[in-house]
Amino acid sequence: VPPPPPGPLAFNGTKLVNDEDHPFMPPRKGDARGPCPGLNTLASHGNLIDLLCDQYLPRNGIATPAQIINAVQEGFNMENEIARFTTYTAHLMDGNLVTDLLSIGPKTPKTGPDPPPPAIVGGLNNHGTFEGDASLSRADAFFGDNHSFDQELFDQFRNFSAIYGNGFFNMTVAAELRFHRIQQSIATNPEFSFAGLRHITAYAEASFPPIFFVDGRKTGAEAGQLDMAAAESFFKHMMYPPDFHRPAEPVNSDAQAVFEVHPFQPGRNVGGVNNYTVDESLGGLLDFCGFYENFVNKTIKGLYPNPTGVLKRNLNINLDFLFEALPKAGDGSQPCTQVFPYGHD
Ligand code: HEM
Ligand code: MG
Repeated sequence: VPPPPPGPLAFNGTKLVNDEDHPFMPPRKGDARGPCPGLNTLASHGNLIDLLCDQYLPRNGIATPAQIINAVQEGFNMENEIARFTTYTAHLMDGNLVTDLLSIGPKTPKTGPDPPPPAIVGGLNNHGTFEGDASLSRADAFFGDNHSFDQELFDQFRNFSAIYGNGFFNMTVAAELRFHRIQQSIATNPEFSFAGLRHITAYAEASFPPIFFVDGRKTGAEAGQLDMAAAESFFKHMMYPPDFHRPAEPVNSDAQAVFEVHPFQPGRNVGGVNNYTVDESLGGLLDFCGFYENFVNKTIKGLYPNPTGVLKRNLNINLDFLFEALPKAGDGSQPCTQVFPYGHD
């Protein structure tokens, strides 16, 4: 039975996370790495032998949701609710719900035997589930590789940081580059898709670098300003900068701050480039409950139309974990209504 998600950290201040118990080692042949620089980094730092005690994530890049939540909290001080939301969203689409294992990179037999199609169990590299277009450091799947570090895109990341951030990647740069990457994909990718979950994650992830990748000891004018050496370390080398300390308190994304500079509706190119067509039917950043309902009733139900046995039980358990992790209103109440595609039992 999948265990309940870990709770918040007991000690949640800043601390050295690139410590001697978690040395960096480049991925070995066969280790799974993928589109997320945060998870890639966590998997690349740890004990040199596969002893789980001194690892943020298993070095092979295959992890349970509980391991991922613990790792992003411990290694980056990601706030508990968003850690749970992100992890269960990914696991439900890209993970193996029977073995409770998710690849942070490609599809692999290491997550165990697959449930019947149309289930994909594709790992985080799978395009169109969690991974999506217009990423800041990875190319669109249409161009052939949606998960490897892309030097040209990183050069653009650097240029935008020079122009809008005085050499640093901050929230101003995040907003400008996020908008520019959307325009680039509209103009060059006939299959550009920016609907539903991707409308949410694209804005959230653009805010991640200034929030998670800046050393937690920085305060005042230095806070929220990511220098290019640290950015390259995370994005390109999957490596904490020397002496890196995690954020000083549990931190969340700030999708709204990125979005409101250049608001842009969910949608996709239809029938070719430069033909962006708004499609709000899967929800998005401004319709979170619409996203949630469609995610469960269309996306997950589409992957798992008729589950039985352990698969059905674990789907329901993971769907409960997801619902409990949805962002709450200001007064702590849950704005969305839970949906049950497989009944309750
Ligand atoms: C992107 C998964 C936590 C930083 C992504 C992507 C996935 C993903 C699938 C690819 C989306 C795309 O750009 O197409 C996850 C999961 C997490 C998690 C399941 C579990 C909580 C984190 C954390 C950080 C982080 C803690 C920062 C420390 C990023 C960044 C991107 C990204 C910066 C954007 C990369 C780009 O646009 O090129 N993540 N992530 N993620 N993630 Fe994570
Ligand atoms: Mg992408």
